[in-house]
Amino acid sequence: EGEYSLRPKALSEYIGQQKAKENLSVFIQAAKMRSEPLDHVLLHGPPGLGKTTLSGIIANEMGVNIRITSGPAIEKPGDLAALLTNLNENDILFVDEIHRLNRSVEEILYPAMEDYAIDIIIGKGPSANSIRLDLPHFTLIGATTRAGQLSAPLRDRFGVTLRLELYTPEELSLIVKRSAGILNVPIEEEGAMEIARRSRGTPRIANRMLRRVRDFAQVKAGGVITRGVADQALSALEVDYLGLDAIDRRMLTSIIEHYSGGPVGLETLAATINEEAVTLEDVYEPYLMQMGFLTRTPRGRCVTRRAYEHLGLSVPGGALDQL
Ligand code: ADE
Repeated sequence: EGEYSLRPKALSEYIGQQKAKENLSVFIQAAKMRSEPLDHVLLHGPPGLGKTTLSGIIANEMGVNIRITSGPAIEKPGDLAALLTNLNENDILFVDEIHRLNRSVEEILYPAMEDYAIDIIIGKGPSANSIRLDLPHFTLIGATTRAGQLSAPLRDRFGVTLRLELYTPEELSLIVKRSAGILNVPIEEEGAMEIARRSRGTPRIANRMLRRVRDFAQVKAGGVITRGVADQALSALEVDYLGLDAIDRRMLTSIIEHYSGGPVGLETLAATINEEAVTLEDVYEPYLMQMGFLTRTPRGRCVTRRAYEHLGLSVPGGALDQL
């Protein structure tokens, strides 16, 4: 698959997330020196920041296999038992969206993580018996956009927790130039920066934009990605000069027009603009808050003076002065 080839394979190729990388590199080296599996790792943060990529890198650096699955894909305890019993010693099991595991599956995971064993019930009723089955030593890497939704017993069983942060435009520009190199498309410094500034802190979005800008460059500009062609492509995709897309703007405009700038509860806002509340919270809010367009208060979401200004709307007097 094309996108896959853009993924870096070594920690040294992975751009950004400096703190996570530095810590991981120590934990990986130490585990290898002890010939042990890496302790279980929980990765959390907004979507598209490279949780799957980083897990692949951890597997490569450890020299082990990785088996990739997701919370919703593991429906029954037996599904998880099958995955675990098929691992080799020190392998990694990557569970994306781990907050969506069901309770009966999660309970199998506790002894698996803690003791590398699962308890299997044989028979039914009064003659039922439980036998303990030993598992290979393994590392669980769990990924989630919502660490707060993990049950405390599950969260406590991860020895390493890494929070991935939105990337800076400078980091994203390096990623875009690296990806352009792999895709074999010429790109100017300002073209890369334009894509970087407008990809809302997210490598997945930057790489997707790069492919669309490449299309425009090919058809309309002789193949080279310049700042001009990047701007033309991104404007055509309704991404504004700070990276806000149509839904970001609809969210802010709706708070202003229907709720006088807020506060408005997330569910109410979601219903108003016909989007899922979890999507607004996981995908849209992190960037809007980082950009200083939105705040969360105990009574709901509020837009800032900056949001009015960015949208070209006049700021109402008084109420927003403290923002
Ligand atoms: N592609 C996606 N995320 C990346 C990262 N953090 N570093 C390098 N390339 C990437």
